Amino acid sequence: MRKPRKTRMTRKDLLDIETLSLDEIHLILETAKPFKELFTRSVKKVPPLKGKTVLQLFYEPSTRTRTSFEIAAKRLSADVANFAVAQSSVVKGESILDTVATLQSMKSDFIVIRHSVAGVPELIARNTTASVINAGDGFHAHPTQALLDAYTLREIFPDLAGKKVLIVGDILHSRVARSTSRCLHRLGMNVAVFGAGTLIPSTLPPHLSVFSCFEEALRWEPDVVYLLRLQLERQKANFFPSMREYHHSFGVTRERYRDIVSRGIYVMHPGPVNRGVELIDEVMDYERCLINQQVENGIAVRMAVLYLLNLSVQEKAPDLAPALV
Ligand code: CP
Repeated sequence: MRKPRKTRMTRKDLLDIETLSLDEIHLILETAKPFKELFTRSVKKVPPLKGKTVLQLFYEPSTRTRTSFEIAAKRLSADVANFAVAQSSVVKGESILDTVATLQSMKSDFIVIRHSVAGVPELIARNTTASVINAGDGFHAHPTQALLDAYTLREIFPDLAGKKVLIVGDILHSRVARSTSRCLHRLGMNVAVFGAGTLIPSTLPPHLSVFSCFEEALRWEPDVVYLLRLQLERQKANFFPSMREYHHSFGVTRERYRDIVSRGIYVMHPGPVNRGVELIDEVMDYERCLINQQVENGIAVRMAVLYLLNLSVQEKAPDLAPALV
């Protein structure tokens, strides 16, 4: 496993995987390790973000990302404010930039934003001095999901080079597929996708192989099958005849589950899971199902992101060790 050459990042914001250098990706993954070790302590809180404020702006629903950013920020001793869109002046017609300008007057240091429109986090980043973290924007990007996925896989395979991941499902509408495939490819994995022809973009980056049949894709012998949530809220058309049909063709059915277990393939999913659609219930109890580890690692990786972004706007990078006391 390659060690990062850098000891700090030099950026205000985290908006996508593409603009991170490979060294920055390694640095985030390495920095998350000691933060995860904190989780076994009775007191999990450390001081690096004491006096800082993290504002969470979620214009779309979230369980994992919003909660884990909040826990991550609090474990670093930051104060956290959650902006409730439905109870805010957004419903009276206030624009995003006016909302951000208003909130900026309250001097938050970080803005964690999720929005249904691609590019909104970047727009906000250009209009605020706070560090902006993209928590998912439209079809575009979900960088901290990609980083926690990479972290989870590196716990299993310390060197990801040459390992194979098959991403299955709604590739067209998935910001997770975009960010995670890019991140895992940059870490040396072979990445393939499989899904309904209507849910695969007509043009794909050259690093992605495409399969047209689940059984054929499993014969490729992936180390990991990464199932995507069916994004019904983003689909403007009927992309497949029925949920039952989708499960039959693109889900982990009983037969495919047997194949996955016999081949020792790991299973991942970003959540929330549609049971009976992307997978049968039994998969959730499979010993190589990494869904709970992904959620747990989300906190450590988000602590690392907050910690490193905070350092990058400071003059001098102190050692991490004293920060963990
Ligand atoms: N993976 C993910 O983004 O989950 P949430 O929508 O619950 O945040």
